[in-house]
Amino acid sequence: MNTKVTHISLLLLIALISVGQVRAQSLKNVIDKAFRNAEQQSLLMARKYENQPGRLPKSFEGGKDTSSDSRWWCSGFFPGSLWYLYENNKNTELLKYAKLFTDRVEREKYTTDNHDVGFMLYCSFGNGLRITGEEHYKEVLLTGAKSLATRFDPKVGLIRSWDHNTAIWQYPVIIDNLMNLELMLWAAKYSGDDSFRKIAVSHADKTMIHHFRPDHSSYHVVSYDKKTGLPHKKQTHQGAADDSAWSRGQSWGLYGYTYLYRETKDQRYLEQAKNIANFLINHPQMPKDFIPYWDYNAPQIPNTTRDASAATVMASALIELSDFVDADLKKKYMKVVDTQIRTLASDEYTAKPGENGNFILKHSTGAFPFKAEVDAPLTYADYYYLEALTRLKKRL
Ligand code: GLY
Repeated sequence: MNTKVTHISLLLLIALISVGQVRAQSLKNVIDKAFRNAEQQSLLMARKYENQPGRLPKSFEGGKDTSSDSRWWCSGFFPGSLWYLYENNKNTELLKYAKLFTDRVEREKYTTDNHDVGFMLYCSFGNGLRITGEEHYKEVLLTGAKSLATRFDPKVGLIRSWDHNTAIWQYPVIIDNLMNLELMLWAAKYSGDDSFRKIAVSHADKTMIHHFRPDHSSYHVVSYDKKTGLPHKKQTHQGAADDSAWSRGQSWGLYGYTYLYRETKDQRYLEQAKNIANFLINHPQMPKDFIPYWDYNAPQIPNTTRDASAATVMASALIELSDFVDADLKKKYMKVVDTQIRTLASDEYTAKPGENGNFILKHSTGAFPFKAEVDAPLTYADYYYLEALTRLKKRL
């Protein structure tokens, strides 16, 4: 090779590296700006609810705030968001509010009438423990895990999600329930009692068999016959149809099998997560910005609402999944995440401070068939967005 060619190759290489750096740098700027905005909004939200004892934000619809007490399945998300913000910026006001709103959820450690105790406690107390090491939070989480374990019937092999609609469902299990197993896996590690892990693994294995279709999409609700332990109904609750792919449900599945692989190193869970990711990324109805419509089979597409929460759960899961796959797949996943985060951080999805009821993101869909929280902000869209930003920042 002559000197001139070597010189040109070197210049080209330097140019390529610089372009890469500018892109990485600008994603860092996007993340930093997103955190600053999120902190402003969340502090306004916290100050608004500080003097409303026991209340937690829920949504903002028709120009009005909606809130809940700790019983609503989403009660742990706002405290969890405050923990992520505090992890990013050790501001003492954030710490004060993270503790205050986390405490509001504590009584849910005794919840035995639904499966959401994992969402409620692991997002709030779980993050609080991870970040501060607070001893008391361990007791709350272990008590919560014991409460959740009461919903496991060994004959069926799964944790029962809901107790309502008993005329239709004998033993309903929803795909969302995968998210509650992380608390069980934590409890097994912390207490040394392996029965928590066995429950989680049994639930994950049976869900893999009965919730998923050959194309790796999943049903929302599978109800089991209590005597045989086999499904007697496969339906939807929040999706477009029984055989449709409800967007958030698909994201719960992706997130669930990703952390199940992290915690167990069982290759079947990794394959499952990769298959779900592949289904989602290549879905013909997935928009170019990778912010899904509320159901991949919604008959009204493209004239219907998106679900930013399905995108934030998916983004956070893909970031973690990218740690476990080969370089090509990692690149593919991170390209999707890059697009999602830049879209969510844009004015189209991110609210200006003081607007949107002080939620960070706009345009989520809670339950379209019930006309509930349609094109609205949601605490869990914000929570998983902050988790995705945190995970991404650590990997830049
Ligand atoms: N876990 C309830 C929902 O995703 O709407």
